[in-house]
Amino acid sequence: MENYRARFERHHDELRWLYMELYHNGSMFAELCDKMEDFYKERNQKLKALDLRREEDPDWYRQNDMLGMMFYIDNFAGNMKGVEGKLNYIEQCNVNYIHLMPFLETPKGRSDGGYAVSNFRKVQKNLGSMEDLESLTAACHKRGINVCMDFVMNHTSEDHEWAKKARQGDGEYMSRYFFFDNSYLPSLYENTVPQVFPTTAPGNFTWLPEEGHFVMTTFYPYQWDLNYKNPRVFNEMMYNFLYLADRGIDIIRIDAVPYIWKELNTSCRNLPQVHTIVRMMRIISEIVCPGVLLLGEVVMEPEKVVPYFGTVEKPECHMLYNVTTMATTWHTVACRDVRLLKRQLDIVNSLPKDYVFLNYLRCHDDIGWGLDYDTLLQNGMEERSHKQYLNDYFQGYAGESNSRGELYNADPITGDARFCGTTASMCGVEKAGFEQDEDAMEKAIRLDVMLHAYMFIQSGIPVLYGGDEIGQVNDYAYKEDPDKVADSRYIHRGAMNWKLAENISDADTVEGRLFEKLNKLEKIRKKEKVFVSNADTWTIETWDPAVLCIGRYYEGEKLIGIFNFSEFDKTAWINETDGDYIELISGEEIKPIGVNIPAYGFYYLKKK
Ligand code: GLC
Repeated sequence: MENYRARFERHHDELRWLYMELYHNGSMFAELCDKMEDFYKERNQKLKALDLRREEDPDWYRQNDMLGMMFYIDNFAGNMKGVEGKLNYIEQCNVNYIHLMPFLETPKGRSDGGYAVSNFRKVQKNLGSMEDLESLTAACHKRGINVCMDFVMNHTSEDHEWAKKARQGDGEYMSRYFFFDNSYLPSLYENTVPQVFPTTAPGNFTWLPEEGHFVMTTFYPYQWDLNYKNPRVFNEMMYNFLYLADRGIDIIRIDAVPYIWKELNTSCRNLPQVHTIVRMMRIISEIVCPGVLLLGEVVMEPEKVVPYFGTVEKPECHMLYNVTTMATTWHTVACRDVRLLKRQLDIVNSLPKDYVFLNYLRCHDDIGWGLDYDTLLQNGMEERSHKQYLNDYFQGYAGESNSRGELYNADPITGDARFCGTTASMCGVEKAGFEQDEDAMEKAIRLDVMLHAYMFIQSGIPVLYGGDEIGQVNDYAYKEDPDKVADSRYIHRGAMNWKLAENISDADTVEGRLFEKLNKLEKIRKKEKVFVSNADTWTIETWDPAVLCIGRYYEGEKLIGIFNFSEFDKTAWINETDGDYIELISGEEIKPIGVNIPAYGFYYLKKK
């Protein structure tokens, strides 16, 4: 208890101050404190020991050995036990952080891929049980693998017991959501609140005919927004959070965090109270389970993302998604023009080095084209027509495109649409395979590997989308499933193809070629200290619009990465005359002066 007491003492005043400012409710605060202590007592000794080790080494997750992989449990290995059986494969992929996509109880056909939780303390039956989860996290910890899960706190499923009681007209439970008996207030909200799913779930409210009420549903109609103005909601959700942390979870992904506080006449996004809540969550975890990291899901422009790190004295999230960089990367692929990406990387590189970004090429969601259109306009690209171009390009209709994929939530009114597809399909692997075109396949693999090499050189934690390591292509089976057909995100959520994964050591196969090349890059990243998250990082002008150059420096070591985003051989007109360099993949000596770089090629040049 000594550690707990010390942590509690350290944080109590600030926590109380924030809580009272938001809720003015001393007895609910006292209840929260009691429960925190209970969850600490329940936390097992191994986790407590891990907490202590991590407290002593707060940079533990900023190292160059971190590599993540995300997957759906059923797609990857059937169930939790199955995942436990695949830990050797996970290690073979050099992965030491797995993100288990939503696995808590969710109604069939109304699940939003598991993001509509009906019970925060129960695992989906087909995936296993809480005991299986504890066994999996313990098995992972033995191998030094961290486990991440989603904490979907903005809403519950309409089948959650609170929602059921609210439906029955129980005022206590209705006050945990946003209920309205007529359309007046909902229509006022609609004036200022944008839409998340304009085509698949238009509007932010759902009419419940039997109850004669509207309920707020920012996402799907079956996902009811929780009302965090009610301290009972905050407290209970914190208990759920701590319960899950005690099952051995290392990284909690706070789903849709910008949305959790609502105010009339605002966009209901990123309101100041959201930051109060996240800060309280951070304090609560630092008291009860300081080994746990908070990963914020803020899919917004950089100015809105960065505040979720909080400040040095009052940190909020440990990690955030590098979402604009991801979208800008695909823009760069479609345009063979690195100018916007260079500018975006310069913005990220100018941020404090303590900030840890999660870097990725693809995830389970669509790609929204949230680019810096003011800058693009200066380069002659106008927002609406450019989005149209990107969507045409990645569907394979425009430019020199070999990509395959589908639109997502195409909004006929705004003309906006997002995009879905796997990395491999977007790089041309699907098309080349279908057409049995070996030259095109070679090109597609080169692009795919180059993009990974470029992702790995960024600061932060790279996360692979499970299946990308063997170049899995789009899966059109979702069209046969009535529960999934309306949501094209399922195109890139296909089941892991273990038959293909058997080829990972066979250099004559697409899987073998990709796997071996990525494996080499991953090993280099783990070995070279210059990849640590807080190294100096900068971009270097190459005087060729298709070639990106990134420098890294850490404790006397220097690395220059050069990436050719075009299908033509290019020259990077750089002139680094500070010594001799060795290329880490081939072992060749290459001077970083006027470097010739093949189509979709890349180099990692390390100063000798
Ligand atoms: C997050 C998830 C997304 C889900 C949404 C609603 O954005 O990534 O898949 O639809 O939250 O929970």
